[in-house]
Amino acid sequence: MSAEPEFRDVIVLGAGAAGLMCAIEAGKRGRRVTVIEHNDRVGKKIAISGGGRCNFTNLNAGPENYLSGQPDFCKSALARYTPWDFVALVEKHRIRYHEKKLGQQFCDTSSREIINLLLTECESAGVEIRLNCRVNEVRKTDRFSLATNTGQIECHSLVVATGGLSFPKLGATDFGYRLARQFGVPLTEIRPGLVPLTFAPEDSRMGELSGLSVPVTARCDGVTFEENLLFTHRGLSGPVVLQISSFWREGQTVAFDLLPGHRATDLLAEARREALDPLALVGRYWPRRFAEAWCAKYAPAKTLPHFTSAEMKDLAVALNGWSLRFSGTEGYPKAEVTLGGVDTAALSSKTMEARPAPGLFFIGEVVDVTGWLGGYNFQWAWASGHAAGQAV
Ligand code: FDA
Repeated sequence: MSAEPEFRDVIVLGAGAAGLMCAIEAGKRGRRVTVIEHNDRVGKKIAISGGGRCNFTNLNAGPENYLSGQPDFCKSALARYTPWDFVALVEKHRIRYHEKKLGQQFCDTSSREIINLLLTECESAGVEIRLNCRVNEVRKTDRFSLATNTGQIECHSLVVATGGLSFPKLGATDFGYRLARQFGVPLTEIRPGLVPLTFAPEDSRMGELSGLSVPVTARCDGVTFEENLLFTHRGLSGPVVLQISSFWREGQTVAFDLLPGHRATDLLAEARREALDPLALVGRYWPRRFAEAWCAKYAPAKTLPHFTSAEMKDLAVALNGWSLRFSGTEGYPKAEVTLGGVDTAALSSKTMEARPAPGLFFIGEVVDVTGWLGGYNFQWAWASGHAAGQAV
């Protein structure tokens, strides 16, 4: 005689930021909740996030900080679970934290503290977590039935919190997308976001500048970010490039203002009066190695009084709008997020339930809502997890 399958009110797939938050909220409402995680530990991405200090939220988070096919979709969840709600949770657990810049909140000590916070809350909400658990098949009759490596388990509400494809070495899978397809929930195009860009062949020698960092403004697709860029062996990274990468598409150029806050025409006119050469001018603003490499490629080797007016103009344009095309991105292995995912048009913005499949919910990064760099992605994970946790 075969054993009766186990039954839970709610099963959450994925013990990351969104899944754990959802499980906590559902557990607090008296639901019997099991979280299924195929890794041997919960929250592996939380552990490495923010350079090991988890940039757990951003106090300025609002719908304008997210990319999505429906820019207003995230509004409701973000309004009902704000950055201050998560900060209150952090304070309740006596975790010391600080603002680094631009509203970004980091742990003083370690990301581990955020994981412990979530595990403690799960325990007090009576949430069961199953590690090393693999789901082989999901079926739906009047309830969801999951065939796993540890047996059959059934539930009323199934929450998909399996994240995106970035950082496959931490256990990222396409399971969430496959489940969406199986249940007739549409997907938008997915691609890596918050990812380093790789040099086009003609710029590959700039890899010699690897390790150098320069403050710039980057523009692409009508969007502008001001922060540092970082040269790598294969291309450009650093906060400004990660931000702009989410807006960049194959074939587009990115324009970098290498003298943010200055009009290059004004600086050049003054430097001309001082009879400087371009290297002496930019050497006042940039690291020496970058100034030399950039001038060797973009500035005629003579003092500014010898420049024609066309040369002056070209140089000014290059300084305030250094335009680079890129061959591509470093892809999912180095992307912090996955852009696109479960189409928000098919989800309730209040509950995250999929309209084509009642009882099936999608939260966190698997959904087509992607934040900027700076704590916005965790805030979406908390807020969407909270929204579903109130409804399951
Ligand atoms: P997440 O990926 O966290 O969790 C998904 C879980 O599902 C994982 O535990 C995974 O193992 C599990 N899973 C997948 N497939 C499964 C299957 N088939 N069965 C069972 N389980 C399965 N954001 C931010 O706001 N601040 C920051 O500081 C950073 N820093 C950062 C650094 C790096 C290196 C990366 C890669 C990413 C960040 N991020 C970030 C982004 C942030 O980590 C990300 O947006 C959230 O973790 C998304 O939370 P989710 O819960 O949706 O997915």
